[in-house]
Amino acid sequence: MTDRYAVIGNPIAHSKSPLIHSSFAQQTGQDISYEAVLGGEGMFARDVDALRGQGNAQGNGQGLKGLNITVPFKLDAFAYATQLSERAQQAGAVNALKFDGDTVLGENFDGIGLVNDIQRNLGVALRGKRVLILGAGGATRGALGPLAAALPRCVAIANRTVDKAQQLIASASAQQGVALVASGYADIQGSYDVIINATSASLFGELPPLAHSVFAPGCLGYDMVYGKGATPFLQLARQAGAAQLADGVGMLVEQAAEAFAWWRGMRPDTGAVIALISVPIA
Ligand code: ATR
Repeated sequence: MTDRYAVIGNPIAHSKSPLIHSSFAQQTGQDISYEAVLGGEGMFARDVDALRGQGNAQGNGQGLKGLNITVPFKLDAFAYATQLSERAQQAGAVNALKFDGDTVLGENFDGIGLVNDIQRNLGVALRGKRVLILGAGGATRGALGPLAAALPRCVAIANRTVDKAQQLIASASAQQGVALVASGYADIQGSYDVIINATSASLFGELPPLAHSVFAPGCLGYDMVYGKGATPFLQLARQAGAAQLADGVGMLVEQAAEAFAWWRGMRPDTGAVIALISVPIA
């Protein structure tokens, strides 16, 4: 019998997740379906209850086995889960659920997706490196634990609102040998090997105010948004001498691969799927 999965978000029409998961299913020979669901504002629990009961209630199939969660429902999914992984607890948000009877397991694969993309796909080993993240919202919170676990020399967080960066660091679990620092954009100290834009500024064609000097020669400039081509951040990184530029398409596909492996017990190959949905950074 075909096992059902879905992604829920609002908006959802442009989600790449159905394409990614159906590519994984085809590649691994798994019999699954994967649909995009438009969630109602303030209706997460009701929507997910309905999806889980759907097939059973109609007596013509089975309820959902798993669900991906995107904006703006990651906190609702966190509240909906009955068991949270350590990663989900650290991130304070859930981007994948697995249903097992009445048990709802909550995970967050965004941070590990980012780290896998940087290390495996882009070939940048994070151990001993200086990492700078711009922004202190949910995206940074999700990335912080997995980034620190890769044992860089330091992770600096810069944010327009410095308080939020400081709070993130205060609530992060300490990783021996990894310095965590917070600052505003104007006070960033030194230069960095990996600079990650986790603000939502690129979505509006905007750019955090960054000095060229924060980009170390040969660095990687990484924008978490995807499919937008050369964002203002990536243009700045290029002008400042970054050797490598990437958008978040690899992160998106890698987090999907983690969810697929968690649900299906097998790891798909991500390279072909990343190539399929990449937009050139011209
Ligand atoms: P997400 O969950 O996607 O991380 P969020 O929690 O709303 O979204 O956080 C958005 C981040 O982008 C914040 O760090 C925000 O900075 P503030 O905390 O100072 O608000 C940052 N951000 C949004 N627009 C920005 C802009 N135009 N310039 C710089 N930073 C911006």
